[in-house]
Amino acid sequence: MTSERIRSLLSEMTLAEKIGQMCQVQPHGRDQDDQVRAGLIGSLINVVGPDAYHYQALAVEHSRLGIPLLLGRDVIHGFNTIFPIPLGQAASFDPAAVREAAALSAIEAGMACVNWTFSPMIDISRDPRWGRIAESFGEDPLLTALMGQAMIDGYQSQSIAACAKHFVGYGAAEGGRDYSTAMIPSRELHDIYLRPFKHAAQAGVMSFMTAFNEVDGLPCSGNPALTRDLLKTAWGYDGMVVSDWNSITEMIAHGVCANTEEAAERGVAAGVDMEMASRSYFDHLEGLVATGRVKEADINDAVLRILHMKERLGLFERPYGPERQHPGRNHSMTQARNLARKSCVLLSNNDTLPLGGGIHSVALIGPLADAGKDMLGCWVFDADHTLNHSVLSGLRTKLGDRRVIYRPGLPDPRSMDGAMIEDAVMAANSADVVVLCLGEDEGLSGEAHCRAHLELPGRQMELLQRVAACGKPVVTIVFAGRPLLLAEVIEKSSAVLMAWHPGSMAGVAITDILFGEPPTGRLPVSLPRSTGQIPIYYNHKNTGRPPAPDAPSIPSGTPLDPSGFFSTYLDEDHRPLLPFGYGLSYTSFACEGLRLTTETLTEADDLEAEITVTNTGSRTGSELVQLYVRDLVGSVTRPVRELKAFKRVLLAPGESAKLSFSIPVADLAFHAADGTFKVEPGRFQIWLGPDASKGETAWFEVVPSPTNPSGKSGKAKV
Ligand code: BGC
Repeated sequence: MTSERIRSLLSEMTLAEKIGQMCQVQPHGRDQDDQVRAGLIGSLINVVGPDAYHYQALAVEHSRLGIPLLLGRDVIHGFNTIFPIPLGQAASFDPAAVREAAALSAIEAGMACVNWTFSPMIDISRDPRWGRIAESFGEDPLLTALMGQAMIDGYQSQSIAACAKHFVGYGAAEGGRDYSTAMIPSRELHDIYLRPFKHAAQAGVMSFMTAFNEVDGLPCSGNPALTRDLLKTAWGYDGMVVSDWNSITEMIAHGVCANTEEAAERGVAAGVDMEMASRSYFDHLEGLVATGRVKEADINDAVLRILHMKERLGLFERPYGPERQHPGRNHSMTQARNLARKSCVLLSNNDTLPLGGGIHSVALIGPLADAGKDMLGCWVFDADHTLNHSVLSGLRTKLGDRRVIYRPGLPDPRSMDGAMIEDAVMAANSADVVVLCLGEDEGLSGEAHCRAHLELPGRQMELLQRVAACGKPVVTIVFAGRPLLLAEVIEKSSAVLMAWHPGSMAGVAITDILFGEPPTGRLPVSLPRSTGQIPIYYNHKNTGRPPAPDAPSIPSGTPLDPSGFFSTYLDEDHRPLLPFGYGLSYTSFACEGLRLTTETLTEADDLEAEITVTNTGSRTGSELVQLYVRDLVGSVTRPVRELKAFKRVLLAPGESAKLSFSIPVADLAFHAADGTFKVEPGRFQIWLGPDASKGETAWFEVVPSPTNPSGKSGKAKV
């Protein structure tokens, strides 16, 4: 991993300079000048533009060894140009588009002298109460791994280091409360939560960030089994590991360290190379080395990794980054518009969308209709707000001012003041169609922004009920950083579009969809019917008493006698409102004729399947065919379905296409009862279809390969 240059640099460094490399500080103005000049800081966080150039110049031109700084920033879903929140990007199921967005974000951030982003967040998220689900790619390990890789490739292609975070289990916070304890059994940790991280390590991500939470009694910033033994040794990861904000010293509050000195000792022992924000490394490592409690060899390893990252970024040659050319506003706005469009999921449509030529006037109602800033969502520090497009601006540009009757209905999304509702109802009565913009403002999701109630905030449901009672077609657009409870919204609306927080070009992208551009997004998370169902996710286990697949939907609030002792509720359907992978188009499709090339395979083979997709509707549209597999009998229980691949096909009305899938049987590996990661011989079921709840099905058999009769995996990857 290390070059001659780095080794010789290390040999010239004093212990204080080495420890300095392991410290990341947030400056306030220019208050770190002396430290940087003295070579006692390796990285700064949250400095951009002129301040960042200033500090980099000090480090390179005025410190003794001239080591450049890592300049970190949370570039989560855009820099000046804002793309959809990551959960929305996941809904695109389009890694290439996500990669391009990350590359553009990296260009913009790099032009402000940033060289490290704390993204992607690849925490599996099964709990919509958790505010950071917005920053995630949802509930599925494969989709998360692919989206994570796309972002990593995009950033790093433009010489901005990516950071796989938060290692690990942060999304499993109990009760959906941020920072809360994560209860994850070891096999689940390895087969679900760690999978995207292993994929990121293999994809060459330059850094990892440890999580705030504990897993099984050990806070993740002080867990040598995870960071040193698994990540660095077993996976052979040669990048660097940074803590989360103050997460080293928070081990005192966790109750595993008595003071900051112990916290520093524990952090280094665990293999956390750099401390973010808190100062325990700076204050104590020299003393800890002197007393032998911290080995200088561990310090050297950390510093080599940090210097290696600086070298990989090319900072020794070009401390301010490579020459970067912005592709121009038109280009970036088109990209943001396209990805925003791809992230929208059509949840229901009663023949209302797309809006046709007969529409003369639109009543645009709702507290999020003219909310350009709220469209951006959480984690936006550097947005160019002059680029924001609300739905109001999008519709007015399309239809002209006179044909759009705008009434907010409520003063703001959380408001309990109903004085404006009547006015909104009058507007609805006077128009041909209502476009109703509901959901969460940008402040309702993100870090430490968790919710116990997932209904529409404030009096929004009342606004919907009143407007729907007018009898006009109502198209509801839901903006949110998470899945909300939408059963009644779907029931009362003629069409519902889940738009997440779509970014700078929100209003333009939504207008495109309303007037004909077919929506293509798919749910990256299951939509619950009620909070009592949470956590709800498609790749759950079967249990010994699974409900029948067609078990009746029990009306909420009606205590019924269950028809048997099955894993259901008395007062709620056990199924999600809408499943993972779900999303409508403006046309319909049939998926038929599933065929497997062979039904008997060994672990060394590829499973080959094909299916014919036909556009059975009257408009052009694209279908996303998803391939799921179930391992029917394992040495341990296995999920009822697991996504293994997906493919999109664009079809004109009446057109058919044959889609072929090929997945290595090795991708079916998991941690078996004996602890090894392998594919177990046996029978499997496969589905190809439009979401996680349906599909054409077939069966195949994996038999031991003649060269590997024990079934122990050699080829298995993630
Ligand atoms: C978050 C990280 C983020 C860091 C720096 C923390 O509070 O958990 O995800 O990268 O702050 O802003």
